[in-house]
Amino acid sequence: MKLRNGIEIPDIGFGTWKTPNDEICLQAIQTAVDCGYRHIDGAYIYKNEESVGQAIHNCGIPRHELFITNKVWNTQRGYQSTLDALDQSLQTMGLDYFDLYLIHWPANALNYQDPVQVNKETWQAMIDAYKQGKVKAIGVSNFMERHLEPLMDMEIIPMVNQIEYHVGLTRPGLVSYCQGKGMIVEAYSPLGRANLLDKEELIEIAKKYNRTVSQICLRFILQNNVLPLPKSVTPSRIQENIDVFDFELSKEDMDYLNALDLGCITKNPDEMRP
Ligand SMILES: NC(=O)c1ccc[n+]([C@@H]2O[C@H](COP(=O)([O-])OP(=O)(O)OC[C@H]3O[C@@H](n4cnc5c(N)ncnc54)[C@H](OP(=O)(O)O)[C@@H]3O)[C@@H](O)[C@H]2O)c1
Repeated sequence: MKLRNGIEIPDIGFGTWKTPNDEICLQAIQTAVDCGYRHIDGAYIYKNEESVGQAIHNCGIPRHELFITNKVWNTQRGYQSTLDALDQSLQTMGLDYFDLYLIHWPANALNYQDPVQVNKETWQAMIDAYKQGKVKAIGVSNFMERHLEPLMDMEIIPMVNQIEYHVGLTRPGLVSYCQGKGMIVEAYSPLGRANLLDKEELIEIAKKYNRTVSQICLRFILQNNVLPLPKSVTPSRIQENIDVFDFELSKEDMDYLNALDLGCITKNPDEMRP
């Protein structure tokens, strides 16, 4: 896929939330790279920046062939503290730049008197970091239309919105708003944190294509023009999750999956603390 500024973003990313900050992380990322992943999704709050950084250095792939994402955490919002957080994460990971830097969650009224202003100041820091070349692209995560709208008159608008998205949680209003503004939508928890994998409806579809449920979930996301970020530390699953480019779901099955109601809900960003 291509970001609005012309930069290419590999259309499947490797998730690292809950990946421990140790040898398991080094092995998972090495396996991922060996399987062909070139895009790694990280964050300050995942508390594994040291290992993710080390894995990037050790993996044998030149830095410019990798696409590395990081995110500014909720306690780091605001203009200067966002710039400081970025420098700190780059330093911890031993990197000169991130390919993509995101605001992890929007500020809300539970934590700030004027959350819109906080989001604008944080976003201004993202713009300035982008102009300084410390990040090659900038975006947000967990932003709803109401959080994005006040950013629309700023000099640069988000290039990405990373949201929870999977079969049963396709959020068509938000996705078409973002895509209509030229943002890439990234799907976190694309397997519903593994909760989708035993759903009878999905097992049936997987049988039909002679694929695993995980592969159906990821293929479904790709065919909706959304970029999935599956996480695993298990070598066979890491391989399985990238083997999704040699089959296609039919229009009828896409329609069925897009309409499937599994009772999924996601966190309301305005109820998040801190
Ligand atoms: N921006 C945000 O607020 C936000 C929030 C959540 C996540 N994320 C990002 O999105 C990434 C993915 O989301 P996620 O970690 O929540 O959930 P996920 O990728 O939907 O699911 C991960 C879980 O599924 C298991 N799994 C993976 N592949 C499998 C397969 N082929 N068969 C069976 N089980 C499989 C993993 O187990 P093992 O690891 O044990 O194999 C793990 O328990 C995160 O790692 C993170 O990078 C971002």
